[in-house]
Parts: sequence; C-alpha cells; structure tokens
Amino acid sequence: MMDPMNQQLAPDGRLRHLLTLDGLPRTALEALLDRAQAIVDGGIAGAPLAGQAVCTLFFEPSTRTRMSFQRAAQRLGADVLAFDASTSSTTKGETALDTLRNIEAMGVRGFVVRHAADGAVAALAAAAGPGTALVNAGDGRSAHPTQGLLDMLTLRQAKGCDLSALKVVIVGDIRHSRVARSDLHALRTLGAGEIRVCAPAALLPRDTTLEGCVVFDDLDAALEGVDAVMMLRLQRERMEEGLVPSLEGYHRDYGLTASRLRRARADAVVLHPGPMNRGVEIDDAVADGPQSLILRQVANGVAVRAAVLEALLA
Ligand code: CP
Repeated sequence: MMDPMNQQLAPDGRLRHLLTLDGLPRTALEALLDRAQAIVDGGIAGAPLAGQAVCTLFFEPSTRTRMSFQRAAQRLGADVLAFDASTSSTTKGETALDTLRNIEAMGVRGFVVRHAADGAVAALAAAAGPGTALVNAGDGRSAHPTQGLLDMLTLRQAKGCDLSALKVVIVGDIRHSRVARSDLHALRTLGAGEIRVCAPAALLPRDTTLEGCVVFDDLDAALEGVDAVMMLRLQRERMEEGLVPSLEGYHRDYGLTASRLRRARADAVVLHPGPMNRGVEIDDAVADGPQSLILRQVANGVAVRAAVLEALLA
C-alpha cells in the first residue's frame, strides 16, 4: 500500500487528503491550527464550499467526529450527505470501495471516512478518483488526525502556541488508541517539551509509537508536575480478553481522580477525546471540574474540521 504521508500531499505541498499526522510538516500542521483558531475567533465568511457536497462515510459508530464534520461542512456552505452503514447496501455485502465509487458518481468530492481497519482510509484514498479528497475520521488503531489537531488547538489555547516548555502526559489505553498515535505525532512535530505516557504494560504499544516518550506505569509519578493530562478511553471493543483484569482495578491504578490530579501543576488542564467511561478512566469530579477542557475540545472540533475541509475542497 502507498505510504499515507506521500499520498496526502501533492508535489507542491498542497494537502490532497488528510490521512495521518505522521510526517505532516510542521508548517502544514500549524497552518491548519492557525486557520482553525481564526474560525474560532471570527467565524467563516460567506460559503466557500457552496455547491459542493461532503459525505460522512462512517463504518464505525461516532457522535463527536461525525456531527462536528457535518456542522463544519454546513458552516462552509456545503451539502452534507450522511451515510448510515446500518441501513446501507453494505449490509448486502457491498464493499467500502464500491460504496465510495457510487457516491463519487453522484458528484460528491469530499469524503470523511471512519473504518475499523488500519489503513482502510488510505486504501480508499488511493483508489478514489482524481479531485476526490478523503479525511481520515479514525481508522482502526492507526490514526485520528483531526482529533490530534483539535487536541493541539485546545492545548495551544490553554498554554500558548509554544509547547516547548510543556510537560504533557497521555494516560491509558495507548495500545488500542488512534487518538494517542495522532496526538504523539502532533506533540513531537510541535516540539512539546516532555511527552510522558502512562499505562499498564498490557496497554502499551509494541511498535515505534512511543519513540521519544518517557514511559511510566505508576500514574501518581507520571502526573507529578505536568501541565496537561490527556486521558484515553479504555477501548474494550478492540481488546482481547484479560488485558485489563477488572474495571475496578483499572480505576484504582489508572483512574484520574481529583486527589490524583493535585500531583499535576495547579494550572494543569485535562483533556479526553470522548466518549468517556466515567468512573473507569476518569471521575466525574475531574471530567466536569474546573481543569477540564473536554467540551472545549468538542467545540474546537468544529473549527478544526472546517479548516481541514476548506483546505481540501475550497
Ligand atoms: N473522539 C471521537 O472520535 O469521538 P466519536 O467516536 O464520538 O466520534
């Protein structure tokens, strides 16, 4: 399969698809963040995508990503086609590629795709027609680039654009998390000062994902003095049996409670991509507390996704 990084940039550096943050140049990443911040501050002038259509092609469930892409496309003036896998002809065996090609034949050029298989969105992008742009809205454990971007936008708003003095910890099910992979690529590209990860050994990835990270298995130690805590959902749907012996035990050792959070800096912020397992990886008092930016992340998701659709289709 073609390298998603080479596939997503045209020879002149223009973004053709957004498939991964792995290797995306810092200038391209910062341009998307700057545009998203401008949308947060000033909205979108006119309807830059008037006359165009965007299809949200989700083969896995979603609330935040799908709806914020739809909201973003509407704000840009595009028509939105919401594909529902459960009532589609995929239930009769139609492949994802045939589905895409048929919707392309209706004149749709923008696709936001979520799929359970690693690399599925890049494979669809490689087979799509010229002029069609795909955004990876999460594929398997590989990548969730717009989540990575909205997390970076949220961190920049809270801590400033220079992340070089920041200590950030990512906590939880890193092994199964496409969010963690995209966040780690983005944090490295933006030059975050210290990137910590914390998880039980069974939930750590066994590839190169953690290059350059400081790895902890003790959450209390990992939280000491950090500026930002990025919690992850325990992804039970992607897990073999027995990786986490009990939810109670996981909460005891890796759940973010208000008292644990006191080990971080007093002005530390807490992020979580959602959906949350309340009482498992995060307590209500933290999720709904003064240091939580979780709903700010969701709001930023609309602006980030508008910036991405605009860059690809306007
Ligand atoms: N964060 C995220 O991807 O949420 P959804 O699965 O609801 O889209």
